[in-house]
Amino acid sequence: MSDEQPPPYGTSAPTPAAGGRTRKRLRTHHLAEMRENGEKFAMLTTYDQYTAGIFDEAGIEVLLVGDSAGNNVYGYSTTVPVTVDQLIPLTAAVSRSVTRALVVGDLPFGSYQASPEQAYLTAARFMKEGGAHCVKLEGGVAMAPQVERLTQGGIPVMAHLGFTPQSEHTLGGYRVQGRGDAVESLLADARAVRDAGAFAMVLEMVPTEAAARVTAEVGIPTIGIGAGVECDGQVLVWPDAFGLRTGRIPRFVKQYADLHGALLEGARAFAADVRSGEFPAAEHSFES
Ligand code: KIV
Repeated sequence: MSDEQPPPYGTSAPTPAAGGRTRKRLRTHHLAEMRENGEKFAMLTTYDQYTAGIFDEAGIEVLLVGDSAGNNVYGYSTTVPVTVDQLIPLTAAVSRSVTRALVVGDLPFGSYQASPEQAYLTAARFMKEGGAHCVKLEGGVAMAPQVERLTQGGIPVMAHLGFTPQSEHTLGGYRVQGRGDAVESLLADARAVRDAGAFAMVLEMVPTEAAARVTAEVGIPTIGIGAGVECDGQVLVWPDAFGLRTGRIPRFVKQYADLHGALLEGARAFAADVRSGEFPAAEHSFES
């Protein structure tokens, strides 16, 4: 039985979900409880109201408005150029469109690394203007002061370790991290962000065994992307997972749909109907 109470100030009614049931909002502590109970959870990226609503309805526990919007919405080739002002409206759209999922705002490159104070001011914008329930940032030992400042200031933090895309130029490209002896520095990073107050961490492109060690030793939920099956949760970038993106996809992606194919077919059929005069038919037109 939950001990969560209704909001005290009469600001909102319990959220009605599809089908009229009231669904409980996922909180950071629920992820910790799931880990304790050995239950895995799912996380997807999302950048807009329709996919957010669908993924929420599907029961995806965590929705990340990732800085991968840089590649997947804004057409950049990396996440480096995307800005706070570009991500906040997407975060706000997602927050407005879900009733249950935990919404994670992603702090983009250059918006938090300079100081804990810079991190706090940026993260507060994601919470206030974007409606995020928590934020994610990339980095371990070096970012522990930022994690501590945010958590002390009431902002839950999800860390991101292993391959950190914002540092691709420092890491020398998209490479697996934490192989061999490097597992020790991965563990040191994981302990540092946990001790600073992070409630969970993403592990990206890390060997299964290394991710398993972190998951066993660190005591907070780990969320893998290319980090094997031992993590507590798994995350995928949605245009990869559902085949909106084509071309070479990373080895760790499993494609669950072919949206590129479906949209291409639909768009071609529409164009053909327009050219042949089949569309609009009488039922799509108004009488005088
Ligand atoms: O921005 C993003 O999509 C991410 C995932 C790779 C976890 O950070």
